[in-house]
Amino acid sequence: MKVKINGKQEDFRTVWMENSVIFMIDQPKLPHKFEIYRSKKYRWTANAIRNMIVRGAPAIGATAAFGMAQAAFEFKGDNFLEFLGHMDNAKKIFKDTRPTAYDLFYSIDRMMNGMRPATSVEEAQELLKKASQRYADESAERCRRIGEIGEKLIEKGSKILTHCNAGALGCVDYGTALAPIRFGKYHGREPFVFVDETRPRCQGSMLTAWELSQEDIEYSIIVDNAAGYFMRKGEIDLIIVGADRIALNGDVVNKIGTYEKAVLARENEIPFYVAAPQSTFDFSCKTGKDVRIEERDEEEILYMWGVDQKKEFNRVRIAPDGAVARNPAFDVTPVEYVSKIITEKGVYDPEDLPG
Ligand code: MRU
Repeated sequence: MKVKINGKQEDFRTVWMENSVIFMIDQPKLPHKFEIYRSKKYRWTANAIRNMIVRGAPAIGATAAFGMAQAAFEFKGDNFLEFLGHMDNAKKIFKDTRPTAYDLFYSIDRMMNGMRPATSVEEAQELLKKASQRYADESAERCRRIGEIGEKLIEKGSKILTHCNAGALGCVDYGTALAPIRFGKYHGREPFVFVDETRPRCQGSMLTAWELSQEDIEYSIIVDNAAGYFMRKGEIDLIIVGADRIALNGDVVNKIGTYEKAVLARENEIPFYVAAPQSTFDFSCKTGKDVRIEERDEEEILYMWGVDQKKEFNRVRIAPDGAVARNPAFDVTPVEYVSKIITEKGVYDPEDLPG
């Protein structure tokens, strides 16, 4: 992704690994500070996923893949059986970080399978190093293809609504929902983006808005409750969102609030597209009802977080003392509200996904 540093655009990935150190764009600091978080231990990497220093389904998948390689290199000694026990423990720690995004589980299982041919600690370490890098490169490539394929759904001057951040920051690069928009911009389609604020963590107003501004893509942030107003006024031509998990029947699990956007889109006859790589498809879930929805801490709702006039990070309470809140992080959009799913292999009817 392009990031403006001292007026110059530089290329960054959201997450990468060098010599067993994992580097991540520190997302809770955005849009106010662009900093890189360095994780030297796999348990720190797992915490970075849990605390959302890195977030978004494909990004956490790639981070966990690197984390598994990191865990392998942290093992001291050459007892292979003990090593396998250590890796099994690392697998559990990573799988326990966030429950909903399927990419996380997919990538960890791929790493465990990837080291299967190894008969020594050293061999397993080398296999995991290569497999994790391959995983991240493939993940970026899948999103690049989604961009190329999805761009064709955008007409010149299209006004597009998106929810949460399904951009490069939520992936290794390019994004899922934002990839077609990015490629549309590169090829003169002049997209305009309505950015849902996406309470409570404001991934829209903090991350998507930042990402679009890095590439000079025009946008307006709107509060989550305003999407219906703009749809009814005819100001939105299409909607593109990402996904955290897609079930066998085509039900889509994504950031809380996606479902109501899809229902409103149907009511207003606006196409509702979901962009996702195949690492997000979980065909062991027959429908969205089988997916575990993460419930996060109520503090995310009771407080707001940002910088003050002195540019210092501060948290302020916005709810009465003693107030309680419920904070589901995702919801399920039933397949009948989804117009098409944009994947790296093509654009599909949601009931007809490639296996
Ligand atoms: O809680 P988050 O920020 O990890 O949720 C991210 C989303 O819901 C995205 O829409 C999804 O992962 C799609 S692809 C980045």
